[in-house]
Amino acid sequence: MSNNNPDIINKINNKYLFFKKDGWAEKSELFKQLELDGFCNYLCYKNMIVDVIKETNAKSILETGFFLGSSSFMFLESSDASVVSIDPMGFYDPPKTGLRNADRIGKAFPNRFRLIVKRSQEAMDDVKDTKFDLMFIDGDHETDGIIHDFEMAIKLNIPYIFIDDFNGKVEDVYFNYYANKTEVIKGYGIQDSGNIVDNLLVKNLLAV
Ligand SMILES: C[S@@+](CC[C@H](N)C(=O)[O-])C[C@H]1O[C@@H](n2cnc3c(N)ncnc32)[C@H](O)[C@@H]1O
Repeated sequence: MSNNNPDIINKINNKYLFFKKDGWAEKSELFKQLELDGFCNYLCYKNMIVDVIKETNAKSILETGFFLGSSSFMFLESSDASVVSIDPMGFYDPPKTGLRNADRIGKAFPNRFRLIVKRSQEAMDDVKDTKFDLMFIDGDHETDGIIHDFEMAIKLNIPYIFIDDFNGKVEDVYFNYYANKTEVIKGYGIQDSGNIVDNLLVKNLLAV
């Protein structure tokens, strides 16, 4: 899990929101009905995603990293936004499980969800004509891949960037290259897990 710097709270100017485990969201009826297969971080993510939607009022979201679809599902369920998710599929799990979840999510939210089965490095042409309000970066977790996804947000002029797994390489890339191009809105974490910022929402200062 996370191992980020103890002074992270200072680095993000004390802007954070930690959720208590006993305050975690219950799985929604729709979530249960869809029978999404496999690992799904519903409980700890849901409150955070609701807060991100409140902060950004996003109507159009670009995500890198679909995996089994829990974040896509929660964005769709927590808003009236549309979601485009990019993932080559099959990295951690037989792709058929993720593809089946994508199919169920697409049917549950007609005309609001699209999965692009590619690496984000190869998907620019698929998304360059769409206006997005928010990018969720949770795909390639290697340094070059993380940089690529930040650059994609900048090229696409996306005003808000929400970053997952904010530790290790992700944290380094952010502070080395993007902290001065963004303004921290809020860090998120789980209070009972050591007060660690695991996700960060920032405003892209280069977006016009
Ligand atoms: C941590 S998982 C995403 C979890 C998902 N966002 C959620 O919250 O349920 C990371 C995913 O990124 C995908 N991935 C890896 N490299 C990628 C790339 N270059 N472009 C897009 N997605 C990538 C993997 O296939 C994997 O499914």
